[in-house]
Amino acid sequence: MAAKKRKTGISTNAIHGGVDSPVAGAGVSAALVQSVNYVQDFGTSEGMMYTRYGNTPNAERVQKRLAVLEGAEAALVLSSGMGATCCAMLALVRSGDHVVSSSWIYGGTRRLFMEDLPGMGIEVTFVNPMEPRGWRKAVKKNTRVIFLESPVNPTCRVLDLTSLRTMAESKGLALVIDSTFASPVNFRPIEHGVDVVIHSATKYLNGHHDILAGVILGTEPFIEEARRKMAVWGQAPDPFACWLLERGLKTLAVRVERQNENAMRIAEWCSKDPRIARVHYPGLPDHPDHEIARKTLDGYGGMMAIELVGGGGAAEAFLGRLEIFTHAASLGGVDSLVSEPRYTSHEFLSSEERSAIGIPDGFLRMSIGIEDADDLIADIEQALPQQR
Ligand SMILES: Cc1ncc(COP(=O)(O)O)c(C=O)c1O
Repeated sequence: MAAKKRKTGISTNAIHGGVDSPVAGAGVSAALVQSVNYVQDFGTSEGMMYTRYGNTPNAERVQKRLAVLEGAEAALVLSSGMGATCCAMLALVRSGDHVVSSSWIYGGTRRLFMEDLPGMGIEVTFVNPMEPRGWRKAVKKNTRVIFLESPVNPTCRVLDLTSLRTMAESKGLALVIDSTFASPVNFRPIEHGVDVVIHSATKYLNGHHDILAGVILGTEPFIEEARRKMAVWGQAPDPFACWLLERGLKTLAVRVERQNENAMRIAEWCSKDPRIARVHYPGLPDHPDHEIARKTLDGYGGMMAIELVGGGGAAEAFLGRLEIFTHAASLGGVDSLVSEPRYTSHEFLSSEERSAIGIPDGFLRMSIGIEDADDLIADIEQALPQQR
């Protein structure tokens, strides 16, 4: 009887997952095959490789690795996180179908759901994900998909999937999650019964602020359908982006573990400073979702947010004084970043609409990097108003 293969951990899988042991003479680092088209046998369509089909050597390598990391049957890499969300939805719904979505989602996804899907005859109902029975009440005969994001951008709320999974299963709906904030190091939704996982790989998965990419994960047949959509709608990634994504993934576990530790220390420090009115971090015991985060996540994440005493004006002065944190959109990389969702991801909502979903003016989203926590804390301390 063949020996049972030992199950490897996430750090090992991030480096070796999904690929065969290299043969003598092969590069330890995978070769970049920067080509759009590939030599093909004649007399057959078998083996046809083309970058837009998502079947090139660098795409296939990184797709296999991502599937192992998330515990999914298959993965598809695309040219952006939004490309991933769009293609996943195209593969799941068609005109006449209905989607129930959490209203706490990334601004770009919200625009897709508010403006573009309805224009294609796909109705979307938004629900407050914490409202008891809210999801169930929104489901209709033609509902096909339940969509959510957790942890939520930018409020860092953490949703409990248990009842949603039961409801989705009993009604035959696809449960789809944007798991960008967690990364597979902190949460693997498929282990919790989710059908489709989406990531903006621009963020933690790559981790170096230098590529735009997205991933869809799910069953083999579903990923095949998403790949068909990608081949037609054209959101395929360039081989070099796939190569950089594979390189970034190798350090995923160490980066995210360090980000978890740094964010915890910074959140604890911020929660004790009277110049900071509110700290949003699920690792803090007084966070509304701390218990669910403690039970379901393997780490509380590198994303947090603060609200300063003095609101929007104080936030702008604070941003002007920061020296290590960079004021920039995006998240999940090695550099610590800070941004104001009112001018970035949630700029298209009114001040009142933002407040209603927990993002008042002056709300500062912080993506904690892998610098020394002491230095990041010192940077925040010197940027806060000095007269207490
Ligand atoms: C949670 C979340 N999902 C999706 C996206 C979209 O990803 P991309 O910018 O790679 O298209 C973002 C981007 O900020 C995000 O934060």
